[in-house]
Amino acid sequence: MQRIYLDNAATTWPKPEPVYEAVERYQRDIGASAGRGAYREAGEAHRVVDEARLACAQLLDVPEPRQIIFGCNATDLLNLAIVGMLRRGDRVVSTVVEHNSVLRPLAGWREPLELDVVHVGCDAHGYVDLDEFRRECQVKPPRIVAINHGSNVSGAIQPVREMAAIARDAGAFVVLDAAQSLGHVPLTLPELDVDLLAASAHKGLLGPAGTGLLAIRPGVEQHLRPWKLGGTGGDSDARIMPEALPARYEAGSHNVPALAGVTAAVRYLQEHGVAAMAEHEAALTVRLMGGLADIPGVTIYGAPSEHRRLGVVSFAVAGYDPQEFATMLDASAGVQARAGLHCAPLLHRALGSHSMGGLVRLSIGWANTLEQIDAAIAAVEQLSAATI
Ligand SMILES: Cc1ncc(COP(=O)(O)O)c(C=O)c1O
Repeated sequence: MQRIYLDNAATTWPKPEPVYEAVERYQRDIGASAGRGAYREAGEAHRVVDEARLACAQLLDVPEPRQIIFGCNATDLLNLAIVGMLRRGDRVVSTVVEHNSVLRPLAGWREPLELDVVHVGCDAHGYVDLDEFRRECQVKPPRIVAINHGSNVSGAIQPVREMAAIARDAGAFVVLDAAQSLGHVPLTLPELDVDLLAASAHKGLLGPAGTGLLAIRPGVEQHLRPWKLGGTGGDSDARIMPEALPARYEAGSHNVPALAGVTAAVRYLQEHGVAAMAEHEAALTVRLMGGLADIPGVTIYGAPSEHRRLGVVSFAVAGYDPQEFATMLDASAGVQARAGLHCAPLLHRALGSHSMGGLVRLSIGWANTLEQIDAAIAAVEQLSAATI
């Protein structure tokens, strides 16, 4: 049976061919740790990391590549951004649309750091209530706002520039979770006007598993404490982390093969254009949402197709538990979906899908085709008809 992969919000698959080639080339021919040896391959490994940093800096329009910090996923870098910025007694304004990679660091540090954390609500489509957001920023200015760019449940793309302006007026730093948006829609750090942008590099950026990045607005590092402490390959005699970026935030050996793949992925995105790929995904999203909307018993949740949204489509099927339906989709038609609460419990509560055990989610990627989308719609239709 054909595999119809529609779980690109978890991680994109397949990757462009040059990504596989770059990883393999590094593994077979270089194989050394970066920045930790004087021999030729160690130098080459170091250059592989530098190249990845430069490629990501160019993509995000960050003037200094050292302002790009690598980690193993978006969660890793969100922890650095959130925990690194917070001090005892700080106030944080966040939202209910966040993923657990924002919710849990805030919940986990709430008591030890005596934080005052609020989660602003959203409308029925998953867009943050801007009036409430403004009020919460003004009533008692937060040190940071921690906000989502594109949702992994509703698909909604938040008006980040507007939210950043509100936060800045209140004197707050802006931490953005761009895990779902980077690579799926054109974006840069200056355009979004945020202080810290954390993202996966294994999702829309099309890099290998085990990659993530944090872009730091120049100067913000003065307020950002390192979170992960350990060896950096240099300054070995120092008892504390070096001051210089990026080493200050990059303890431990790099995932060099994956970073070789990240460079290849960014170059692929630049060559084909994120805007063109976004257009392709948007067309497939309209088709998918239109097809699902016509199926009796299917209810789509989240952002309508005409709103600013990602290719993440979540729905309920009358008479089915979401996990059961996702399993049947795979078994009957090879359609690979993700079901449940998607690590976003507050958003499912806000959308009214929490008590149902969440939703079934289909998420579109660069490699999906119209035929695959039509096959997925047909599979949902066939299965849902069985209960009616
Ligand atoms: C909105 C959002 N933020 C953060 C993450 C965490 O990303 P990662 O798996 O790279 O840690 C995800 C993952 O699905 C996500 O959807």
